[in-house]
Amino acid sequence: MTARHRPLPAGEEHGTDEAFARDPRTKLVVTTSAGLEAEARQEIRRALPGAEVRPLLFKGNLLVLAALGESEAVVRLREADTRVLARAVPVQARVRLTADATCFPAVAEAAAGLGRIQPGDVFLVRATRRGRHEWHGRDLERAAAAAIEQATGATGDYEREADWLVSVQAYQDLAFVGVNHPANLVKKALRRQRKYAPGERPLNRAQWKLREALDAFGIDLAPGSEALDLGSAPGGWALALAERGCRVTAVDPAALDEAAAGHPNVTHLRERAEDLAERASWRERFDLLTCDMNTDPAEAARALCALAPMLKPGAPAIMTVKFPTRRRKRHEMEAREALAGEFEGIEMRRMPHNARETTAVMWRKGGAENAPK
Ligand SMILES: C[S@@+](CC[C@H](N)C(=O)[O-])C[C@H]1O[C@@H](n2cnc3c(N)ncnc32)[C@H](O)[C@@H]1O
Repeated sequence: MTARHRPLPAGEEHGTDEAFARDPRTKLVVTTSAGLEAEARQEIRRALPGAEVRPLLFKGNLLVLAALGESEAVVRLREADTRVLARAVPVQARVRLTADATCFPAVAEAAAGLGRIQPGDVFLVRATRRGRHEWHGRDLERAAAAAIEQATGATGDYEREADWLVSVQAYQDLAFVGVNHPANLVKKALRRQRKYAPGERPLNRAQWKLREALDAFGIDLAPGSEALDLGSAPGGWALALAERGCRVTAVDPAALDEAAAGHPNVTHLRERAEDLAERASWRERFDLLTCDMNTDPAEAARALCALAPMLKPGAPAIMTVKFPTRRRKRHEMEAREALAGEFEGIEMRRMPHNARETTAVMWRKGGAENAPK
């Protein structure tokens, strides 16, 4: 590996955070699929001739420096015919991160210090975290939003149309901070996907959401655990659980992909979740209840509560709370209220692969052993 290709956080040649901020070029964090960085570089250089493209610490992440205005760079990337570029976010500041939350004020200061957010503006903070930290992206978003409000006189709100999107792209001990108009970002459909080793290709993006939730909430499933998965098709969650050794009862009127349907640990019931409640013999049978049904979140929460007696007391349940409208807080609140009848320790957290939704994790009431610590 040449010095030029050394990952950014380790490289002194990239200078100080102050030098980064002073560099007059437009800086963008660009993401692609891991393994397709070389192709992404070519696409970036075609769209932004003369741009410098540096690797970041995590695969599939690149830092681009281009001698063009931000809007022009964004438009060129957006309009370019690309296959592997996924997202591009202009960033204007770089900050050091710590494993604990003591770095939060520096992130907020960097965003407020750019001078873009004015009193009375509405802004939204979005953090994408890569690496190991004691905090979650949501913690940083909340703390940074409160500090930016104080420093600028603007309002952090994710229910209203935002004037500014504060993006925090965290890479272990370093974060890139961007304050942009929400329209001034690039989001493209990948036309070529990451190359996976044989047998490792995920069935769909949904599979990652479940893996992220199991990891983030420290849910360990012993081999042979019984899982009831509602809204299973095409089967990403069912497959992820089956591959961890769970025996999965996958419930969905729609068909499962053959990778899930053919897995020996998966049993598919082509039924609606609401039709299961009468199976009295399933009482306290399951070690995990999951639900990714694309229905109104309060409705999904009620279905989960109706089936809660099938879950062992104290066992975990995971549900995605879909946002059918922009009133996200309201949907979260309604789901939480409905779930509180049967579950405790309800926590909602946005996972990196959540799109218009968040992930709720909770425990069935009545169990001391598995209760959240
Ligand atoms: C987002 S997809 C689920 C993706 C799935 N978790 C995966 O990993 O592949 C939502 C699914 O919910 C199912 N669904 C919606 N309402 C349902 C209901 N009342 N009972 C069971 N499944 C339902 C739909 O048929 C659809 O397949």
